[in-house]
Parts: sequence; C-alpha cells; structure tokens
Amino acid sequence: MDLIHREGLARVGKFSTQHGTISTPTIMPVINPNIRTISIEEMKKMGMEAIITNSYIIRRNDDLRTHAIEKGLHDLMGFNGPIMTDSGTFQSYVYGDIEYGNTEIVDFQEKIGSDISTILDIFSVPEDTHERAEAAVNETYRRMNEISGERKTILAGPIQGSIYNDLREKSAKLMSGTGAGYLPIGGVVPLLEQYRYGKLCEIIINSKLNASFDKPIHLFGGGHPMFMGMAVLLGVDIFDSASYVKYARDGRLLFQEGTRDLKEIMEFPMWSPIYGKYTAKELKESPLEERTRVLAHHNLFTIFMELREIRERIYEQTLWQYVEEKSRAHPALFAAFRNILKYREKLEPFFELYRKPPLYYFDESSQLNPYFVRLQKFISDNPRFNCEKNYVPEGVWQPSRLSGMFITEQYEKSSLPYFINWMGIHVPVELEEAYPVEQVIDTDHYMESGPCDTPEIPASRSKRVRDFDLEKIRTLCDFQFGCGTGKQVFPDKSEIIKSKATGRIRTVSLNGKFLATMRAHDGFLGLNIEGGNRLLQTVKYPANRVVVNEDSAEYNARGYNVFRKFVIDFDPHIIPLNDVLVVDSDDNLLAVGRAMLSGIEMATYRGGMVVSVNHHTRER
Ligand code: GUN
Repeated sequence: MDLIHREGLARVGKFSTQHGTISTPTIMPVINPNIRTISIEEMKKMGMEAIITNSYIIRRNDDLRTHAIEKGLHDLMGFNGPIMTDSGTFQSYVYGDIEYGNTEIVDFQEKIGSDISTILDIFSVPEDTHERAEAAVNETYRRMNEISGERKTILAGPIQGSIYNDLREKSAKLMSGTGAGYLPIGGVVPLLEQYRYGKLCEIIINSKLNASFDKPIHLFGGGHPMFMGMAVLLGVDIFDSASYVKYARDGRLLFQEGTRDLKEIMEFPMWSPIYGKYTAKELKESPLEERTRVLAHHNLFTIFMELREIRERIYEQTLWQYVEEKSRAHPALFAAFRNILKYREKLEPFFELYRKPPLYYFDESSQLNPYFVRLQKFISDNPRFNCEKNYVPEGVWQPSRLSGMFITEQYEKSSLPYFINWMGIHVPVELEEAYPVEQVIDTDHYMESGPCDTPEIPASRSKRVRDFDLEKIRTLCDFQFGCGTGKQVFPDKSEIIKSKATGRIRTVSLNGKFLATMRAHDGFLGLNIEGGNRLLQTVKYPANRVVVNEDSAEYNARGYNVFRKFVIDFDPHIIPLNDVLVVDSDDNLLAVGRAMLSGIEMATYRGGMVVSVNHHTRER
C-alpha cells in the first residue's frame, strides 16, 4: 500500500493488483454476476476502479462456473480491472452451512483469476458470546494459515471478533502476521443495518490500530455515504457494498447525509444524474425495473461523489472537521463521533505536527480533538508547567498580544510559568505562534470569555531574568523533541534574528552557524544541521532518530530522501511532519528532514518514503 497523502489515520493511497492499481479510499461496487443493474461502463464513468463479486455464486452456477474457468473471471464480469471475490462466508451466515471448504473455495478463486481472493472466514454476529466470537477468530486464523504456498492472487484475511474490542485487537494482530495482503473488517453488516455507528467506530479503531499499516483495510458492507467519512478518518481504505442496488429496490435514495424515500421526494437535486431526465412524479410512476435502475444509478453516483469529497478533504487535511460537521446529521453519527473522541489519546500520535488549514473551534467538544490532546499532554508532562504558582495574563489572548509591555515588565522579570487563556484551556505563552494556537478560527464567544483565575501579578523586579524570544524557541524545541531539549540545543548565547516586516522570529544561530528556522506558517522549528547535531548530543538513542543502513547512508548524507526499506531502527514516538535526525548505525548525523509517518506506522510499513530530507551533511 503506497501512501500519497494523509490526515491522521486517513490516507489517500494506491494499492496494486495484477489487473491494475486501485486509488483509495474507494468503493468496490458489489456485482452479482446474474444481475446487472448498472453497466461496467457507466460505473467507470462515475469513478469505479475495482469491483467485487461472489465466487460462491459463480461456482454454484454451471454456466457461470464454466465461463469463469474457460475464459476467466475478468471475461465473465466484462471488466479488465481489479476484481475481488468473496468466499461465501456471508451466504453461510445468511443461509447456514455451504457445500464448499476453505481451501477449495480459495483455489477456485485463484484458478478463475481473481485479483483479491477471500478465505472462508467465520462470520461473528454482534449477539455472539465472547467465547463463541473468540472461537471464530481462532478458526478464521487457522483457515488463513491453511492456505499455503505461493499464490498468484492477493489473499484477503478478514478481521472478526464481533463487538469485543479485545477480540478485534487479537484478530487484527493474528491476521496481520499471516500471508494475508489485504485485511477486511468483517461481521459488521448487522451493525451497519442497525445504524450502530458508535460500536462500529470502536471496532474499526481496535482493528486498525492493531493491523499492519502496510495493508489496505476494507470494511465489508460499509456502503452508506453518511458513514464513509468517519470510517476513512479511522483508517478504512476500501468499502464494498450492494447498498446502491438494495436501497434502489426498496425505492430509497442515498444522500451524503442520509436516506430519502422516493415516495416522499418532491424534487431531485441538481447534482443527481436523475435530474432533468425524470421528475419525481414520473419516476414514482415508472415500472419497478426502470425505477430500480435509475435509483441505483443515483445511489452509486452519490457514493462516488462522497468519496471524492472525502479524498479532497484528506488532501486539504480537513477530514476531521468534515466528520465533526457531519456528525450533526444524525444522532447515530453524533454518538459515533463522541465515541471517536473517547479514543483521542490513541489517535493523537497519528496526527501531523501541523496542517495547512486553521483549526475550527466549534464548542467544548473541539477541545477533545488530537491537537488539543497533544498540547495538554505536553503541559502535564512538563514539570516546568506544573508548579503551584502560575500566571494567566488578564484578558483574552489574541494573536500578537504578547509583545510589548507585558513581556518586558512582567514575563521577563519573573521565572514563573505564564499561560494564555485560549479556547477554554491554558496554554504556555511561549507557544502563542505554534499550530494550532495562532491558527485557530473560533466563535466570538471564546474570544470574549474574559480573564481566568489567578490574575495575580508577581511583584515587579528590576532585574530581567529571562528572554521571551529565547524561551519561545526553547519551549517549541521541548514540544517538538522532548522536555528539556530546548535549553541544551539553544544555549544562552544563541542569536535570534527577527523579520523586520513582521517582528517575528525567523532564525536562530550560534557562533555564526544556523541552528534552526522558525516557520511562518505553523510557528514550529525547522532544524538545520548544527541544530540537529546539538539535538543528537542531547537526546538518548533512538529518540528523534531514523537510522539507515550502509546502502542508504551516503545518499541521505548527500540530500536524498529516506525510504523505508533502508531503515534499520527508529524512534517509535515520531510525530508525522515533525523534524527527525537521519543517522547511520554509528549514530552519526547524516541529514535532517520531515517524517512522513508516525513512529507507530514505521513499524509496519514496508515501502515508501519515510523522511523528506531538508538539510544534509555532505555535498551532492
Ligand atoms: N461480507 C459481509 N461481511 C462479511 C464477512 O464478515 N466476511 C466475508 N467473507 N464476507 C462478508
């Protein structure tokens, strides 16, 4: 799985199969080989890149089986792109035992040329006891391992475990360690049908965080556009669904935020492919078959439209915000969003150090987003901010408020921590320019929230005991690279250069050599080689490091980016888009650059770029 763009666990990626590459996130429309409601050509026009069909149905039908064996699955389906096949697990869940065994059905899928073949996993339902669900997890794992040998097809190994978080975790870990190259989350159709999105979010999180990040995560049956954004935010790459046809048969239309009954509809939206072709009245009076075809077209179109929006949101890095907004569309989504917030500390390490767009602050629930979590964790982990006495300047902070008298008369004459009252929490004044403190868009309500407690001001002293600009740089360093690093990397003699136009800090140097730059767009530090070397001497191995092997070291030292396959060790706490030190196996600094992955993800990604090098130690 190649990562192209990201926001936390959400990713735009590419996944290669024998019949082409799939751009994710996407949906594989379910196609029943016996019934074609929408043609492949029409689907392609909407953005379809891959389909899913059922090998069990093909195998049971003489004509379909013969065609698939003689001419291949792709000829049978009339599609030369990636095709995934399911195994009959769902049929055995709906109709009881089926007549084929696991190895048999996988061999058949491979034989007919399926790109992604699914084992005969055991479908657990939400009502299953823990014991029964665990037995299903174990048996599914056994069946995955039963499929041996080199295969031409990619194997899909479903993650089961019913509603039990520990079992989803166990199943995700077990299946990730097998030959499965594709990991669907199974057993969730009943939850999707009952709008139990809160539980589903928990299932997705517990599966995703314990699965290999290198493999695509598929949500079996997750085809309603109202839930897709949430699922992608939690790391789902691919959906499959027959919902577009099922809803159409029932006379229902999918919308990005819900479902409407054709009977109740007065007008079609202008974006719909139905618009201008039928009036609502005409469609209501059309024969069932025609109506189903037209509604299926609308439904699939809506799904692809929502996926386009989701991909755009990932590029823009506003998917969290989109999900937050959309969660108000239905109480089930709102409950699910609240459930996501309960996992905020687990999600935080995957979020980038900064994003291009500002952070939208809506209400107290915004305080639970990953950027707030990170700020609050920094404050509580840093002993400097945990003394009994601290000060909050009177009034409410606004950008650039902290220059001028307050700094020279109070802050610089005191050694106590000062905080600003920001969006209902207290943030160290030194972080006033760091993302998202300055880059927040809030409502007037929070700007007017008045002074908070302890407005007591220390008695004015005549002596200046600290320098605000230097403290700012040091606090940023502590935030980005660990508590206590700031003082070591930026000693008292550091020289700070400010922009004449804006008055903001631009660079820090020591004895004429650049240590770091303070970036205008996010307010964080970008280390230069000299700053990197000082950090390297300050923090113990492997903190803030990505260690490369001999084959790569010389290239990275000359400025080439770092690729995963050459990495031999790394700091598991790396934050995406933060600066990291690229070192060789003797811990010599080769380069400094931006991490493309979190440390947690680096552990299981096998390919792709992991550090984009900004500064290097040797000439090109
Ligand atoms: N289709 C819907 N849910 C499932 C599942 O759990 N396993 C398989 N194989 N197919 C499914």
